[in-house]
Amino acid sequence: MIGAIRTPSQQLVTVFGGSGFLGRYVVSALAKRGYRVLVATRRPNRANFLPTQGRVGQINAIQANLRDRDSVARAVAKADHVINLVGILQEKGRQRFDTLQAEGPRLIAEAARPDATIIHVSAIGADEGSESLYARSKAAGEANLLKARPNAIILRPSLMFGPGDGLFNRFASLARMLPVLPLAGADTRFQPVYAGDVAAAIVAAVDGRVPGGRVYELGGPETKTLREIVAYVCEVTERKRLILSLPNAAGRIQGTVLGTLDAITLGLLPNELVMTKDQAILLETDNVVSDAARAEGRTLEGLGIVPTTIEAIAPSYLIRYRKTGQFDLKRNATKTMPDLLAPRSGGPASDFEPHRASGTAVGQPSSH
Ligand SMILES: NC(=O)c1ccc[n+]([C@@H]2O[C@H](COP(=O)([O-])OP(=O)(O)OC[C@H]3O[C@@H](n4cnc5c(N)ncnc54)[C@H](OP(=O)(O)O)[C@@H]3O)[C@@H](O)[C@H]2O)c1
Repeated sequence: MIGAIRTPSQQLVTVFGGSGFLGRYVVSALAKRGYRVLVATRRPNRANFLPTQGRVGQINAIQANLRDRDSVARAVAKADHVINLVGILQEKGRQRFDTLQAEGPRLIAEAARPDATIIHVSAIGADEGSESLYARSKAAGEANLLKARPNAIILRPSLMFGPGDGLFNRFASLARMLPVLPLAGADTRFQPVYAGDVAAAIVAAVDGRVPGGRVYELGGPETKTLREIVAYVCEVTERKRLILSLPNAAGRIQGTVLGTLDAITLGLLPNELVMTKDQAILLETDNVVSDAARAEGRTLEGLGIVPTTIEAIAPSYLIRYRKTGQFDLKRNATKTMPDLLAPRSGGPASDFEPHRASGTAVGQPSSH
């Protein structure tokens, strides 16, 4: 019935974690598509940069905390679609894996309208049998969500990159600080995926183009070991650094020491150095799209999205880590950078390009 079809501008999407790294891409892509967006965040003032990504009044923020059931209910009361991007890499105070990642998805699903689409971002590596608390809580979150909403859409990205990421920016920053880079999980394989492509998959799910009740695994076009990723960052930022591969046991000790230091200094350790034993355990297992997901089309390609290459995006925001930053290009005119305004082969599948979006926070390294 034609009268029942509603345009995106008549539909409200609530995005938990909308002010985070991935959240900025998602909110911007939804707004571009015409949806009304409600960003659910613990501190709405920190989301002040987001409304400029849409038309006047199209993007709003509401205070919500996954540890507070009533605030979650208020945030989803009128939503046609609910997206959950909340996640933490380490526990701090009342921010626990269990509460946020295992119980949070169920809480959102139970509070949402019965007819609302639920889209949940988990992570490749979610595994109920893992030694890592992070991976176990992600798996429990998926299971709890599917129990409450069998039709929910679950997206598991590999490590994400893009302006503001916590991956390439972290290593670029570390390479600036340290002559030697001791690396836990150096031989572990990843399939880094562009955050703009993950956002495109989420928009497709909101559009109703992604079958529910399934778990999708989102990886980029290249599989690289962590050592190769770090070597690439050093190459682009022109830092000659020794990459020292740590055996798993040493990686766990490194995580324990740095995690303890971060706790006893009450978070004074520079963000780039913060790592926990749980993260070191995560780094021991490959983080790539499974054969089963590929065979069943539960991938970006299966959703009709051509994954963006690292080379098409990363140099644009890594150049600032060179010794003379962006002035380096002027100093040596023979060096080339991708022309950000030109159409790229291997470029983003989505037409959203955050490095051209306004808002100061887009280029800031993620805390995640
Ligand atoms: N980044 C990656 O490479 C990667 C890879 C695989 C999977 N993932 C998953 O993808 C999702 C998004 O990751 P991201 O990198 O965008 O993370 P992020 O930048 O750290 O954002 C996470 C968001 O969670 C929100 N949050 C934290 N505690 C909350 C609470 N108690 N109540 C409500 N909101 C809370 C924060 O929002 P406020 O501070 O505004 O409240 C923050 O914006 C996460 O689930 C993550 O596990 C990320």
